Amino acid sequence: MSLTVYLNGQYLPYEQASIPVEDRSFLLADGIYEVIRVYGGRPFAMAQHLQRLARSAREIRLPQPDLAELEKVCLELLQRNQLSSATIYIQISRGAYAPRTHAFPAGPVKPTVLVIARAFAGNAELRERGVTAITVPDQRWARCDIKTVSLLPNTLAKQAAAEAGAYEAIFVKDGFAIEGSSSNFMAVLDGEIRTYPLCNYILGGITRQVVLDLARQLGYAVREEGVPLTALPRCTEMWVTSTTSEVMPIIQIDGMQVGEGKPGPVARALQEAYSKLV
Ligand code: PDD
Repeated sequence: MSLTVYLNGQYLPYEQASIPVEDRSFLLADGIYEVIRVYGGRPFAMAQHLQRLARSAREIRLPQPDLAELEKVCLELLQRNQLSSATIYIQISRGAYAPRTHAFPAGPVKPTVLVIARAFAGNAELRERGVTAITVPDQRWARCDIKTVSLLPNTLAKQAAAEAGAYEAIFVKDGFAIEGSSSNFMAVLDGEIRTYPLCNYILGGITRQVVLDLARQLGYAVREEGVPLTALPRCTEMWVTSTTSEVMPIIQIDGMQVGEGKPGPVARALQEAYSKLV
């Protein structure tokens, strides 16, 4: 059975869903997106994801998406495709019906709205074992807080990680490990959980916020302050957080063992709390 997807108001078989050749997301990466995780048929933190989508739309001056309608579409796709453990991908671009030019099309924009829900088994085995990471220079722009489909530096960073046999690439900016190519970065340094503060240089991850809240509830000290590259050898634990990775322990970075070379007690406690929550 073919996957049913949603495109511009219609539910279509995957093979029949197509966009015009001049869609601005294709030509100019002029669009935004969200990835939502579904557990047991129910989207997790859906409201937060939709709010972030609305914010991204505002920041790139797209018309405000109809969040109630999008929520309905997500649930409908889960039903139609009979999905239980899944991811939902939402993308909105600045439309298709104008010849290519950098400036916005004249007149009202008709955004392209695409939603794809697919089965996703999760990463439980990797989370159990822990993963490796590399660091790479951050070559992105100064609005990484917007979740745009303009992901070339992230793609190149992730590819560098893949070629190094690593799970994730951690961006380094001004000497600090700030976030992963598709995740937020956290570490335990001097007994405190450290993560880069919310600002224009990182994405405000939904999982980041959930995990920081859980950490505080569990009584851990949390400091929203970057980890200098020079302090990485002193970190006793590291992990990345994201919708699909949840709490993913890093047991080696740039070939250097982290802590005891296995997921540490703080990561384990957060994994457990996160699992309970979802
Ligand atoms: N990536 N930082 C970046 C650069 C990201 O792309 C992501 C998410 C995150 C974590 O955000 P959240 O916890 O809200 O998933 C941080 C998604 C999953 C992706 O691009 O597939």
